[in-house]
Amino acid sequence: MSENNIMNKKNGVIIGYGGMGSWHGNYLKNSDVVNLKGVYDIKAERCELAESREIHAYSSFEEVLADKDVDFVTIATPNDVHKSLAIAAMAVGKHVICEKPVTVSSEDLQEMIDAAVKYDRIFTVHQNRRWDVDYLAMRKLYRSGDLGQVYKVESRIHGSRGIPGDWRQRPEQGGGMILDWGIHLIDQIMLIVHDKKLKKVWCHCDHITNELVDDGFALDMFFEDDLVARVEVGTSNFVSMPRFYMTGANGSGIIREWTEPCEVVWCHNWDYKDAVPVVTAAGLTKTMAPRDEKTIAKKQLERPQSDVHDFYRNFVKAIDGIEPQLVTHHQMMVDMKIMEAAFESDRLCMPVDVDLQF
Ligand SMILES: NC(=O)c1ccc[n+]([C@@H]2O[C@H](COP(=O)([O-])OP(=O)(O)OC[C@H]3O[C@@H](n4cnc5c(N)ncnc54)[C@H](O)[C@@H]3O)[C@@H](O)[C@H]2O)c1
Repeated sequence: MSENNIMNKKNGVIIGYGGMGSWHGNYLKNSDVVNLKGVYDIKAERCELAESREIHAYSSFEEVLADKDVDFVTIATPNDVHKSLAIAAMAVGKHVICEKPVTVSSEDLQEMIDAAVKYDRIFTVHQNRRWDVDYLAMRKLYRSGDLGQVYKVESRIHGSRGIPGDWRQRPEQGGGMILDWGIHLIDQIMLIVHDKKLKKVWCHCDHITNELVDDGFALDMFFEDDLVARVEVGTSNFVSMPRFYMTGANGSGIIREWTEPCEVVWCHNWDYKDAVPVVTAAGLTKTMAPRDEKTIAKKQLERPQSDVHDFYRNFVKAIDGIEPQLVTHHQMMVDMKIMEAAFESDRLCMPVDVDLQF
């Protein structure tokens, strides 16, 4: 993993030193591929906080742009200003990592991609949830074929604290949960169901604590071959549904909590028919009778290994022309178009056709 030559280290500056900017700052302090040159934030107190942590704070964005030693910027501001900052940085020769969502519309994103091509810069988005082990386990399970033909994938994040009381509550700043969490979960689904085209989306947004932006949503993604993926984010869910669920013709997999391993159950004896009926207060059923070890087997998948700093390692290698960037312009655009289709579907109260694949 660390065969990177120290000579290839790149100098980076974080723009926006809030919650996520601080996360990047902590990581980059010990990076094997990046020197953290400093940060810039429009708020003086955030710059002072950086300096108290012995991180240099630039006095303006222009000062960052004028610093010839800066190879790249990581933009961790609210979503509405990603585009202008990214294009300005690329125009003076900096490479750019944007926090997710990369911006708030496909038109904006196209302008950013055009700038990356025009100025010949690496421009990518920090899809760090590609390194979450729950997602990696589900991706492995899908690719293993162990479940037979997969026809349902469900991915949920449930919290009960509403939307944070910051810019995430404001539509003009790119607030709401589709842009905040939907982007991660949609991106993961497109990587799991890598072999099928997405043909249709149907989305319903919640407005339980906020009228202006979605504070949760349920998005059904209809793929080829009758595979449906459900992506759900809730911020008023006091009991959480499982993080991931996947089911196929011959078995099912589940991850109940973020940090728990994937449990897989599969059928090894279809011909054994002797089901014991379930008797409830009002009747009985054989169809829905649970299986026992005569027909099913269970296992826990080994937890995948991951290191989220591989994102930066790839970015630096992409700058040096050693590797293609992992999060591509095409994938960024597909994710953005799915989010736009989800908003449109919610507005129309009906499904919206798409034709998209990573
Ligand atoms: N990838 C992830 O896991 C993850 C997690 C959280 C947030 N994010 C993303 O990171 C970005 C920032 O989110 P956050 O939670 O850190 O928000 P935040 O409000 O905590 O921090 C944003 C910071 O940007 C500063 N800022 C605003 N406009 C600026 C400008 N023009 N120039 C310089 N600084 C400016 C603000 O003063 C603030 O300190 C968002 O795009 C968000 O979606 C990503």
